[in-house]
Amino acid sequence: MKILVTGGAGFIGSNFIRYWLAKHPDDAIVNLDKLTYAGNLENLKDIVDNNRYTFVKADICDADAVDRAMQGVDTVVHFAAESHVDRSIMDAAPFVMTNVVGTQVLLDAAMRHHVTRFHHVSTDEVFGSLELDAEEKFNETTRYNPRSPYSASKAGSDHLVRAAFYTHGLPITITNTENNYGPYLFPEKFLSLAITNLLEGKKIPMYGDGKYVRDWLYVEDHCRGIDLVLQKGKPGETYCIGGLTQDLNNLEVAQKLLAILGKGEEAIEFVKDRPGHDRRYAVDWSKARRELGYEPLYYFDTYLAKTVQWYKDNEAWWKPIKSGKYLEYYEKQYNLS
Ligand code: NAD
Ligand code: TYD
Repeated sequence: MKILVTGGAGFIGSNFIRYWLAKHPDDAIVNLDKLTYAGNLENLKDIVDNNRYTFVKADICDADAVDRAMQGVDTVVHFAAESHVDRSIMDAAPFVMTNVVGTQVLLDAAMRHHVTRFHHVSTDEVFGSLELDAEEKFNETTRYNPRSPYSASKAGSDHLVRAAFYTHGLPITITNTENNYGPYLFPEKFLSLAITNLLEGKKIPMYGDGKYVRDWLYVEDHCRGIDLVLQKGKPGETYCIGGLTQDLNNLEVAQKLLAILGKGEEAIEFVKDRPGHDRRYAVDWSKARRELGYEPLYYFDTYLAKTVQWYKDNEAWWKPIKSGKYLEYYEKQYNLS
């Protein structure tokens, strides 16, 4: 099988490519990525010489480039996106362009080339925000209620993907997942920023009261979830893929990091809250368990510690990222300029 992965130089896409090449020895992957600030070929340097892997530098909004890359492709796994909520608050335009327009360009090409599966990687953030201390979780039938430009643009892409199924019969599937963590998470996202700041002797910037709940998913569980959807998922269906945490708030996550790294609470700095900050995300993944046999395997405490160790062992990966343009963004975001 030949798979076109979009956004494969980013966090989840690069983990997925590594996972897939190891698990599926007969498959070939074409990775189409624009290499925005978040795309980094260093994420894939161990597989660059694999003869089942090809890289194409292109924008998913470029219909000609997408058309060329789609030649002979059986399956598309679409990760490419602008993915950071805070950046979408600063400037929503690239989110609409890549996440909405780019997704439609890919769908059009997939239809022309009669791909046998178009898998769209989406987020639980399209469902909005849950109450703290409630039992409720998001599932595949939860009404869409996105509240940030990022989640609104992802919601737009989900609707276009479903429209391609209902209107044109394109065999699509969608996964909505929660906050992923693991190697190569870009150090603008909370966990990666917190770990690398602590390793640099800096503080964790904690938005608002810190009582915001995320439902953390180790990236390899996510990759296995997508694999199961590609093997057993039904065209037209959506699956929520979740992990093993139970309502941990950001302060509790930060405290776990401080314990792992032997630091005190003074390493947490409360800063101005994010506008429109969603209180709580939680995902009910029972449909994926029932229909696909999906089970998350990676316990948060164990894999958080492993992730910290990965960042300790891979300073050469994240230190160059936290310079140049990144510093400009960081100073603007955290009012340091
Ligand atoms: P990321 O920001 O780390 O990587 C995105 C990749 O897409 C980068 O390599 C970037 O260069 C590429 N890209 C961006 N715009 C492009 C364009 N116009 N054309 C081609 N390539 C482009 O993102 P991630 O965290 O790996 O997320 C991957 C996908 O998973 C996204 O669709 C995101 O919405 C979704 N998702 C992420 C999370 C999470 O916790 N990170 C959770 C749920 C869903
Ligand atoms: P983030 O990693 O941006 O993911 P998302 O907003 O998509 O869930 O943020 C995770 C949580 O951490 C969220 O509640 C916002 C919070 N946060 C901070 O407290 N400080 C920070 O510096 C960042 C980036 C996020």
